[in-house]
Amino acid sequence: MNEPRSASDDLYREALDRVKQAIERASQTDLYEPTAGVLATAGNAGWPTARTVLLKGLDEAGALFYTNLCSRKAQQLSENPRASLCFFWQPLAEQVEICGSVVRISAAEADEYWAERPRDSQIGGWASDQSQPLESRRELEERAAEIERRFPDRIPRPPHWSGYRLVPVSIELWRAGEGRLHERERYELHPEGWERMLLNP
Ligand SMILES: Cc1cc2nc3c(=O)[nH]c(=O)nc-3n(C[C@H](O)[C@H](O)[C@H](O)COP(=O)(O)O)c2cc1C
Repeated sequence: MNEPRSASDDLYREALDRVKQAIERASQTDLYEPTAGVLATAGNAGWPTARTVLLKGLDEAGALFYTNLCSRKAQQLSENPRASLCFFWQPLAEQVEICGSVVRISAAEADEYWAERPRDSQIGGWASDQSQPLESRRELEERAAEIERRFPDRIPRPPHWSGYRLVPVSIELWRAGEGRLHERERYELHPEGWERMLLNP
C-alpha cells in the first residue's frame, strides 16, 4: 500500500459512495449514533488503542472527525499520523473499515463546525481536559460552570479542539452472507491507482 496520490479515481468514488449508502441505511434504523465508528491509532510505543468517534463528513478529501488535540488519540496521531476507522452496524450486519493517513483540518474549517455546535457541547469542549485524569466529577462540573460564566454570549473554539481527516488508502466493505459465506470487498490504493478486489471472509 502507498500513501494517497489522487482522489480522482472512479473506483475511489465508488467506494466512498458505497460507504455513504451504508451510513444512509444505518441512519434509517433506530441506532443511537449511526455515524459512530471505532478509530484505532498507535503512537511510537506501538500499542494500538481504539475509541469511538462520530463521522462528521465523508468526501474525496477523506473521513472527518473532531476531537481534543491534547487527547491520547491526538498525541498518538502526532507521533504516527495513520489510523483505521471501523464501523459496524449491527442492524445491517455490515462493516466498513477505512484505513489511511490523518491530517489536521484548517482552523477556518474547525471554526465553522464549532459555531454550529450546541452551546452545551461547546462548554463540554472547553471543560473537558480529554484523556487526562480527573479528581472528581465535581471538578469537571465546576470547570463547565466557570466556562459558562466566562463566555455569557458566543463561545469561541478552544485552541485544543479541532478536526482530522482520515485520507483513505484502503476501504473495505463487509456484509453478512448466506451460510457464513460473508462478502468482503476491498478497495486499495496502489501506485497505479485504486484497485478493487474480493477477499476471503
Ligand atoms: C458514541 C460515541 C461517540 C463519540 N464521539 C466522539 C468524537 O466524535 N470525538 C471524540 O473526541 N470523542 C468521542 N467519543 C469519546 C471517545 O470514544 C473517547 O472516549 C475520547 O475521545 C477519548 O479518547 P482517547 O483518550 O483515546 O483520545 C465518543 C464516544 C462514544 C461512545
